[in-house]
Amino acid sequence: MKISVIGTGYVGLVTGTCFAETGNQVTCVDIDTNKVARLQKGEIPIYEPGLDVLFDRNIAEDRLKFTTDLVEGIKDAEVIFLALPTPPGEDGSADLKYILGVANDLGPILKNYAVIIDKSTVPVGTAEKVRAAIAANATIDFDVVSNPEFLREGVAVEDFMKPDRVVVGTTSEKAKKVMEKLYAPLVRQGNPVIFMDERSAEMTKYAANSFLALKITFMNEIANLCEKVGANVDDIRRGIGTDSRIGKRFLFAGIGYGGSCFPKDVQALAKTSSDYGYDFRTLRSVMAVNDDQKKKLLPVVTEYFDGNLKGKTIAVWGLAFKPYTDDIREAPALENIQALLDAGANITVYDPEAMDNVKKLIPNITYCHTAYAALDDADALMIFTEWPQFRTPDFEKMSKLLKDKVIFDGRNLYELETMRENGFTYYSIGREV
Ligand code: UGA
Repeated sequence: MKISVIGTGYVGLVTGTCFAETGNQVTCVDIDTNKVARLQKGEIPIYEPGLDVLFDRNIAEDRLKFTTDLVEGIKDAEVIFLALPTPPGEDGSADLKYILGVANDLGPILKNYAVIIDKSTVPVGTAEKVRAAIAANATIDFDVVSNPEFLREGVAVEDFMKPDRVVVGTTSEKAKKVMEKLYAPLVRQGNPVIFMDERSAEMTKYAANSFLALKITFMNEIANLCEKVGANVDDIRRGIGTDSRIGKRFLFAGIGYGGSCFPKDVQALAKTSSDYGYDFRTLRSVMAVNDDQKKKLLPVVTEYFDGNLKGKTIAVWGLAFKPYTDDIREAPALENIQALLDAGANITVYDPEAMDNVKKLIPNITYCHTAYAALDDADALMIFTEWPQFRTPDFEKMSKLLKDKVIFDGRNLYELETMRENGFTYYSIGREV
């Protein structure tokens, strides 16, 4: 099939590359001339494991192209993905200016029937707005379909190539056939393509992310209570996760969820809800609890140092909002580092991927080349991201480097017994000290 992807951000690039990999002819369009020039030279502007291999192969085999020219980019395309940003406005609602801008441009230049696909996470009712914006200037038949993405950063290629399910919002039989053909190579094991109307598809995406954020938040509150009653949240997770109605995944308590999706989508769904006159109380709680959870370890560290962090050096392991990404959006580490700096502490930090991104925002801390270098002469260690290399460190080496053998772990990386054996004072989430 001939496919066009408008927007070469994270979602657009993964979508374009993966559909090229399934044998389609893909052209990606972006207004950012610098970015397109880099992509044309074979450079990927994002860090996503496994994407580079597919990207290189499909460029070499001439199935993946990049352009800034919308007319050239959509020429003969049977499907046109809109993978454009929807930044939150001040009130938390998604701003549709980029999507509707492209929809306006598409109308007059469509020359053949095409299925136009909303891939971005957009509020309920957006497909109708996109359809109206295109129809205002179109001379040929087209369909607008909602097809939300469920990719996790860091495993996006795998999620794309082997989706649990594909959700497609359309009531057009013609569009349904195109979508079935497009996704057939990805659902051969029998995973479903679930068809529904556009509004339900748009809502499905928000419901999925909000439910996952709720699941994590619930476990974070159970963890907070565990600390008070003297229970262990790891045992609770195992105890409830084995109930198939609950499920094992996304039950890990920690320092709060971050990233570009959960915070934005929970906020946007709460806003949609209040726009429709419904007070979605659970979502309000999720947001409030998560805000507090991200700051949870600060009073613990402060108390440990008798209320005075002035001149203390805190080593930080992990900046990214989760492992296998350099993404620092809404990452708990940032807020914590800023608060520690404000309290007069010095920070030494290590993250395998995200340091360059943080340097631009927080220049006045020490960036180290290894995790151990960050510990040298530090008064304590704080952990914010569960990078695998932090999981089985050399505790003896750590003991020698740290001035004080104390760890504040926002990701529950270590067994309590191991820490006891190695003589560390160990604060984690939802477990005894
Ligand atoms: C999330 C969803 O998982 C994807 O399905 C969705 O497509 C994507 O948002 C999106 O809307 O684009 P992502 O933000 O990449 O993906 O990251 P997740 O792996 O879902 O993690 C989100 C946050 O939850 C992270 O801060 C992570 O540390 C936290 N988390 C996750 C926990 O605290 N505990 C868990 O058990 C799982």
